[in-house]
Amino acid sequence: MSNRSAVGTASLFDPFALGGVELKNRAVMAPLTRSRAIGNLPNELHATYYGQRAGAGLIITEGVSPSPNGLGYPRIPGLFNEEQRAAWQAVTDAVHEKGGRIFMQFMHTGRVSHPANLPEGARVLAPSAVPLQSTKMWVDGEGELEIPVADAMTSDEVLEAIAEYVTAGRLAIEAGFDGVELHGANGYLIEQFIHPATNRREDEWGGSIQNRIRFALEVAGAVAAEIGRDRVGIRISPFGVFNEMPLYDEIEETYVALVRGLDEIGLAYVHVVDHSSMGTPEVPAPFKDRLSSIFGGAFILSGGYDFERANEDLEAGRGDLVAFGRAFLANPDLLTRFKLGAELNEPRPELFYTTGPEGYTDYPTL
Ligand SMILES: Cc1cc2nc3c(=O)[nH]c(=O)nc-3n(C[C@H](O)[C@H](O)[C@H](O)COP(=O)(O)O)c2cc1C
Repeated sequence: MSNRSAVGTASLFDPFALGGVELKNRAVMAPLTRSRAIGNLPNELHATYYGQRAGAGLIITEGVSPSPNGLGYPRIPGLFNEEQRAAWQAVTDAVHEKGGRIFMQFMHTGRVSHPANLPEGARVLAPSAVPLQSTKMWVDGEGELEIPVADAMTSDEVLEAIAEYVTAGRLAIEAGFDGVELHGANGYLIEQFIHPATNRREDEWGGSIQNRIRFALEVAGAVAAEIGRDRVGIRISPFGVFNEMPLYDEIEETYVALVRGLDEIGLAYVHVVDHSSMGTPEVPAPFKDRLSSIFGGAFILSGGYDFERANEDLEAGRGDLVAFGRAFLANPDLLTRFKLGAELNEPRPELFYTTGPEGYTDYPTL
């Protein structure tokens, strides 16, 4: 249970103790896939980009796959071997040298994958073989392609996937990360297990609410046992519809049960996605409050925040931290700009997923 006061007095510039990690302020850089990882490896551009944004209290990296099978998008990074671990070290060094903190987001794409984006021998796996209807996938050199239906995981493959998250957790800590965030949102593997439309399994991993949330809880528990529960957070998107995840009757019950389970494990934080500012269904405010009240760790709010709304919600005790996505993408010195009341750079969406420094490391500071 949460001991967050009903009426807080926090502001975005206040420090915060997140699990065992001291954050210098309450502004989080939201996870942002940027597709610059040629060969699924971070490079010197990544170190520059994240180093530029070390003014955030906490940076959460772009989605990084803990498995060769989870690299479904072009040029997204991985963390499942030594070469990748060594490459990530330069990123954590760049952020720590500037007094920042950084968690890695583990994103396994599951069914949202094109096999042509996967390394040799990897496979598109999901809880069940449920095809995407209209979502297309970019493949370099080929363009937007239809996504072939994933193979349903065997129960051994489910256990292997959990083990991959655990190995990635260890590698992340070895590479200098302050912690990890499990991507349980936006229609990727963990949510594919949570959601009844994508999880049609009839074994202990599907069917009832307890069975559908089992994968999320097993991953969270196993990674927490490996690296410490205070170094593990999770991102969830109740009411999220991205990647063809329709609304369903038991959303609230499902997420209440999930967050109760996460609270028992004692994770450092729950990070709630609300993409209503991008035109999708909103997460009802009373429901967010309910999740926050049953979770004893930190609660991170995200989606469409500006400085004013962030402070309002922190002051009202609706969350402990606020994440900014597009604003951090376009403004490496976002906190300085907030402090001075300065204008913000506009993001350039046409360069979100391209290669090279343009639209990545060249947004100006004041
Ligand atoms: C270019 C781009 C890439 C994104 N990649 C991820 C990602 O890898 N993982 C994730 O959880 N969310 C991702 N998101 C969602 C953002 O973290 C955030 O929730 C969203 O942008 C809404 O917040 P904002 O209004 O502050 O931008 C992405 C959003 C954008 C615009």
